[in-house]
Amino acid sequence: MKIFVCPNCLNVRTLKNCKCQMDIKNEFNIYNFIDWNIKSDFDYVTDYYLKVNKIQEELARKIKENLDVQIILDVGCGEGDLSLELGKLGFDVISIDIAKSGLVYLSDEAKDLDNVYVVRADAYNIPLIDNSVDLVIANNLFHLLNSPERVLEEIHRVLKKGGYFIQISESAKSYFLENGNTYKKIKELYNKNYWLIVRELGYKQKQYNEDFNIFLSIGNLFKYKTRLETNPVRYFGTLNVERYLLRERNRTDYAKFDIPYDVHRKVHKELVEIIEKEFGEGHKDISLNYEGETINIIDVYQKED
Ligand SMILES: C[S@@+](CC[C@H](N)C(=O)[O-])C[C@H]1O[C@@H](n2cnc3c(N)ncnc32)[C@H](O)[C@@H]1O
Ligand SMILES: [Zn+2]
Repeated sequence: MKIFVCPNCLNVRTLKNCKCQMDIKNEFNIYNFIDWNIKSDFDYVTDYYLKVNKIQEELARKIKENLDVQIILDVGCGEGDLSLELGKLGFDVISIDIAKSGLVYLSDEAKDLDNVYVVRADAYNIPLIDNSVDLVIANNLFHLLNSPERVLEEIHRVLKKGGYFIQISESAKSYFLENGNTYKKIKELYNKNYWLIVRELGYKQKQYNEDFNIFLSIGNLFKYKTRLETNPVRYFGTLNVERYLLRERNRTDYAKFDIPYDVHRKVHKELVEIIEKEFGEGHKDISLNYEGETINIIDVYQKED
């Protein structure tokens, strides 16, 4: 597939070769389009997302049955469960994420699938030429983005004319079980106070979601094509406060990326102290059990011919 833009010479290249000889594959068999040493704050969430979302197998099958596509871009692929399922069905899958941990996991899982390409790249700057892929899937990505409209434009750019786009923002409906009330209280307390404190400190950033309507924005760029229906799948799991605070400490919410890191850390420390005062030393062990069902209707959009 000669559809990639070389991070070194900016010419069109395949993943394996470029005129400039630049080798972009690393020891984890990941193709790097951004400096491997840059850390992503998402590196801390991998095991949380792992297996939360069970829709992949069925969705991959529905895509195979309903859409005539070969090259698929899974943007914000995480651990790449969906990429793997698509790979098993024979599609060429380009799996992009900025977080290393998920990609390392995927790369290992996909080692026998030579049609799954694990790529470290930024959704704001997808290293593909215009009109190059048949289908883009953004599964649980958009709620994290600070400038979602820019990523939407990138997706539109790399899609072939007539290519498809699937955006899933809520692939699951969770039912929190009763024991989760304290967990939820801690989370609310953290979030509310985080933004109160940073605003007091003079930072004006808003959290994403306040004024972006994903459906409206997709409607402006794409036409509605069809919907895929899958059978709901049941799932369950546990969340715990210690992990939650670890994620917050590392800013998994992208709106927080605009707050300088040292300020963020200071605010975080203050919040942990407040939580400790209110919920005691044992707050770290507080957990929440959830169970739920995947959402079974998925809209497919299309780039105009
Ligand atoms: C909620 S997870 C979803 C993972 C996977 N698609 C799934 O549904 O299981 C969101 C993923 O988006 C990635 N992400 C966030 N911002 C990104 C960006 N600018 N470029 C590439 N990936 C990004 C995160 O690293 C994370 O792995
Ligand atoms: Zn090159």
